[in-house]
Amino acid sequence: MMEVIYYAACSLDGYIATADGGVDWLDPYQGGGEDYGYAEFYSSVEALLLGSRTYEVSLRLGEWQAPDKPSWVFTQRDLPIAHPSVTLTSEDPAAIVAALRERSLKCAWLMGGGELAASFRTAGLITRYMIFVVPIILGGGVPLFADAGERSPLSLLHAKPYPSGLVQLDYGVG
Ligand SMILES: NC(=O)c1ccc[n+]([C@@H]2O[C@H](COP(=O)([O-])OP(=O)(O)OC[C@H]3O[C@@H](n4cnc5c(N)ncnc54)[C@H](OP(=O)(O)O)[C@@H]3O)[C@@H](O)[C@H]2O)c1
Repeated sequence: MMEVIYYAACSLDGYIATADGGVDWLDPYQGGGEDYGYAEFYSSVEALLLGSRTYEVSLRLGEWQAPDKPSWVFTQRDLPIAHPSVTLTSEDPAAIVAALRERSLKCAWLMGGGELAASFRTAGLITRYMIFVVPIILGGGVPLFADAGERSPLSLLHAKPYPSGLVQLDYGVG
């Protein structure tokens, strides 16, 4: 089975960005010697899956951050290619996951955002949720999932609080 892990940070009220796409509220948790398990997680994934708005935010950061992994960007538009490892696709999520399986990949990072994550969830393609709950209430913004969809019962695999107040929640489906 291939793992598709939605790995993201969200506010206590369930937002992954402010309404204008801002993620400055994550700044206090970057650098400072604590990586919240990111290096280990990153080394465990073999592919990245991004919605176009998340990709556009990454493009603005400058150098492509994941040149060593293939990335698929879901879009109907003709966006700039940040690096040869990046593929734009207008296929649906199930077709791309099937293509990854055919390549014998075992683990993909669904980076988000909330709109793409909702499509993956609706199609039953997410196998695991690794969500970092950040101790902040944003009061509005881009939700973890763009639409509610159906209920998904989850099983807690792991939970870890950090001294900063951030809590890592790791859930499997079912
Ligand atoms: N806190 C975190 O950990 C975290 C993680 C990821 C993202 N973010 C933030 O979330 C924001 C972006 O999230 P978002 O929900 O607005 O957008 P998104 O999910 O990143 O991108 C949505 C866009 O992807 C394209 N798309 C193509 N196929 C799709 C499909 N099957 N399902 C859904 N979308 C598809 C569509 O645009 P076109 O076809 O028109 O291109 C759609 O509008 C950014 O501000 C980013 O910084 C935060």
